[in-house]
Amino acid sequence: MTAPCTPDSSAAMNGTTDIDINDLLDDRPAEQVFRVHRDAYTDPHVFEREQQDIFESTWVFVGLANQLPRPHDFFTVTLGRQPVIVSRNGDGEIRCLLNSCRHRGMVVCPQRSGNRKTHTCRYHGWVYGSGGENMFVTDQAEGRYPAWFAKDNHDLVPVARFGNYRGFLFASLSPDVPPLETHLGDARFFLDLILDQAPQGLEYVPGDIRYTFNANWKLQIENSLDMYHFASTHASYVELLARRKPDAFAGGMPPSPADAAEQGTFSFGRGHAVMWRGKSRASPELLARRRAGYVADISELRAKWAGSARNVTIFPNLQIVDNVTSVMLRVLHPLAVDKTEMHTHCLAPVGEDADLRAARIRDYEDFFNPSGLATPDDNVIYEHSQAGFKAMAAGWTAGHLRGINPEGAPAANKYAQELGLTNADWSLGSRALGDETCFHDAYREWRRLLTQHRPG
Ligand code: FES
Ligand SMILES: [Fe+2]
Repeated sequence: MTAPCTPDSSAAMNGTTDIDINDLLDDRPAEQVFRVHRDAYTDPHVFEREQQDIFESTWVFVGLANQLPRPHDFFTVTLGRQPVIVSRNGDGEIRCLLNSCRHRGMVVCPQRSGNRKTHTCRYHGWVYGSGGENMFVTDQAEGRYPAWFAKDNHDLVPVARFGNYRGFLFASLSPDVPPLETHLGDARFFLDLILDQAPQGLEYVPGDIRYTFNANWKLQIENSLDMYHFASTHASYVELLARRKPDAFAGGMPPSPADAAEQGTFSFGRGHAVMWRGKSRASPELLARRRAGYVADISELRAKWAGSARNVTIFPNLQIVDNVTSVMLRVLHPLAVDKTEMHTHCLAPVGEDADLRAARIRDYEDFFNPSGLATPDDNVIYEHSQAGFKAMAAGWTAGHLRGINPEGAPAANKYAQELGLTNADWSLGSRALGDETCFHDAYREWRRLLTQHRPG
């Protein structure tokens, strides 16, 4: 039996700002131990570090290029706490700019989205073009500015890095990140599977949904990869499905734990992971219609995987749940150590047949979001978990052990082999395996980012 490390030495537990992040993660693979300390979910100082060193320092998802089909289309988001505007300029180039006036710092564009050739700051009237270029400084001639002012640059400031992976837009406020493709690594295969279903690209179905839960954002990171909770947390959803009449396009029952279909996980480094199920709820009719809509040059292998069900997490803020019956995209926005805002979208191929689109939307509404049958279950679980973390005297939780027995190198996994995944941790098992090791990578990346420029 392995002795726990010494949580009582945690500076964070003592209520000081002198946090040693290493004290919050007990990661000893050789001894098959992996635990996260409760302070990681409850300490505001940890949250502050996460904002600075993760959400404001690494690649984060900002949106889809298809949100900006026309010149001068824009949308606004935040990277961590910092406001940005993502805008297509008159030449068709998409730019990501700090949404802060170069005069006295006010948010230049307060709208969530729209189309504007120019953005006028409402405070003193400075004007910026859709590419962020400063076009007008109010009363500049009479402004008694110093001589150098006219020669200085007053454009909106671009973010340090901006990348577009097949229409998925990512930005980083720090230049100290690898190229986007390197950052995504082998997780790109699972983004490609989603994109390969959409010859004309993917779009958000109109109706963006935002909601909050009173709990730490990392619970959402874990839960989207957690098959272990499905049967117990979502029992009422499963019971309801059992009472429904079969329908050609609606999803049927989830495979039972006794089903022969396999499921598993891959983790890719840098916190990204996927939890996949070999069998989805989609009917044969729906699978055939979906298959007919894939890109023409899709391989048999990719088509097979596109027909599986997959939950993809791109650390730290993007999750895509592809149930085949529908695809949901979630963006995480941590607001406080115990409050998280979620933005969710129904993701769909551009130009999809109307009957398939209607079935997709019904399935999306059915399961997801505060009005769905399952998201409220999860949100209550998050909030009760957050409340439970306050029981500090209970010590470390049993944590993230399920599935931890090492099964071998990636080469020993036939699915890793067929996908050519060389840098992936994995698990593979029956429907009854709700693996928790697929969370480990996110916490290792969390620790790496929180400590890479600091002693601990
Ligand atoms: S703060 Fe924008 S014009 Fe003054
Ligand atoms: Fe759930």
